[in-house]
Amino acid sequence: MKGGKPLVGEVTVSGAKNAALGILAASVMTDEDVRIENLPDVRDINVMLDAIAEIGARVSRLDAHTVVINGGPIDECCVESENMKRIRASYYLIGALLGRFCTANVPMPGGCDIGSRPIDQHLKGFRALGADCRIVNGKVLADAERLRGSHIFLDIVSVGATINIMLAACLAEGRTIIENVAKEPHIVDVANFLNSMGAEIKGAGTDVIRINGVKRLHGTVYSIIPDQIEAGTFMFAAAITKGDILVKNLIPKHMEAISAKLIEMGCEILEFDDAIRVVGTERLRAANIKTLPYPGFPTDMQPQAGTALSLAKGTSILTESIFESRFRYLDELTKMGAEVRVEGNTAIITGVEHLSGASIQACDLRAGAALVLAGLSADGITTVSDIRYIQRGYEHFEQKLQSIGASIELAEDDRASMKFLLSAV
Ligand code: EPZ
Repeated sequence: MKGGKPLVGEVTVSGAKNAALGILAASVMTDEDVRIENLPDVRDINVMLDAIAEIGARVSRLDAHTVVINGGPIDECCVESENMKRIRASYYLIGALLGRFCTANVPMPGGCDIGSRPIDQHLKGFRALGADCRIVNGKVLADAERLRGSHIFLDIVSVGATINIMLAACLAEGRTIIENVAKEPHIVDVANFLNSMGAEIKGAGTDVIRINGVKRLHGTVYSIIPDQIEAGTFMFAAAITKGDILVKNLIPKHMEAISAKLIEMGCEILEFDDAIRVVGTERLRAANIKTLPYPGFPTDMQPQAGTALSLAKGTSILTESIFESRFRYLDELTKMGAEVRVEGNTAIITGVEHLSGASIQACDLRAGAALVLAGLSADGITTVSDIRYIQRGYEHFEQKLQSIGASIELAEDDRASMKFLLSAV
């Protein structure tokens, strides 16, 4: 990519990846047709769909964003797919299969390498519902004669554990109360989806979720909410490139922590019913940012924010309080001229006026997106490698960026890279 040009125009946000992953897993909990709309067309989603098909569900992709799933023919609660070991959300099949069939055999989850990422809270929840859970040869084996509602207090606010326990508890006998749960927008979306299948879940989006177990779930038609993090990434794209972007198809309420920081940093924010326009400023102002569970500033926006701070006037303190290894992109930013000192889970960033193009490496999904934005603001040419990480969760990222004026190409090999370089100089 060739940087230095403000990004200007309109961009439309796709469906929420992390909601879709929970919803796809939940769709195997009935033997009726489930139609899911506004599905993001990204790699992690396709891996999940393949795994669902492998255990016997009928998966009909009507188009890139619509799928009909029928879990009737499922005859296998043992997930073998090699790819499932690479994504985090494979763990949702434990909750879904355990809920419906009282047994699940699923590889330990993979996903972006951003910290230790244990699943003890998931297992604690399943055990409280009466399941026997063991980890054997890299797989989670969960079995129960029947699941019974329980009162569960999570030790840590966890998105994955909240959704997973909610899945299993929907079909447990009696009432489950889960306390200290995560409140992210996708928790609410998965709960709404399950309720549309006949589940009785109350309180999603608050600290306590109450579930009355039902005997069975039925088919539904459901459209996934817009992706909060994709929306936030484009909002920061305007700030980082001094651009002016109307980000369409988002829920402004979900963006409050992000909008507030952008305002503090000197951007102008104009809010509409389902869109936000971000007008960048000649020079951003330094700010202190700490990641927290929703409604705090999202950890999945930390690299995009760190990139913006690396260009802000003054010194900022960026604190990552959710995952311990989410600062690796800062080494790459340093190669572009950023001034950063990391001490534990805190980065002290002194903004520079310009970054300069370099060859850098995406180290995970959000870091990859942030480094692309850094490259688009930088002087000269930047090459970001390992973009497979970005493709896990951003739909047509480079095309959306091109549509708002970015000079960026997907280079399949060194030759394509060289061709871009020659055309850009
Ligand atoms: C989800 O991961 C998302 N992944 C992540 O998105 C996101 O960063 C994260 O939530 C936080 O918002 C999916 O939805 C597939 P957690 P998850 O359980 O569920 C600790 C992206 O870029 N913990 O909320 O794995 C954990 O170590 C990705 O799209 C336990 O100790 O996150 C972490 O410190 C990356 N024990 C904290 O809780 C557990 O049993 C929060 O993790 C579970 C979690």
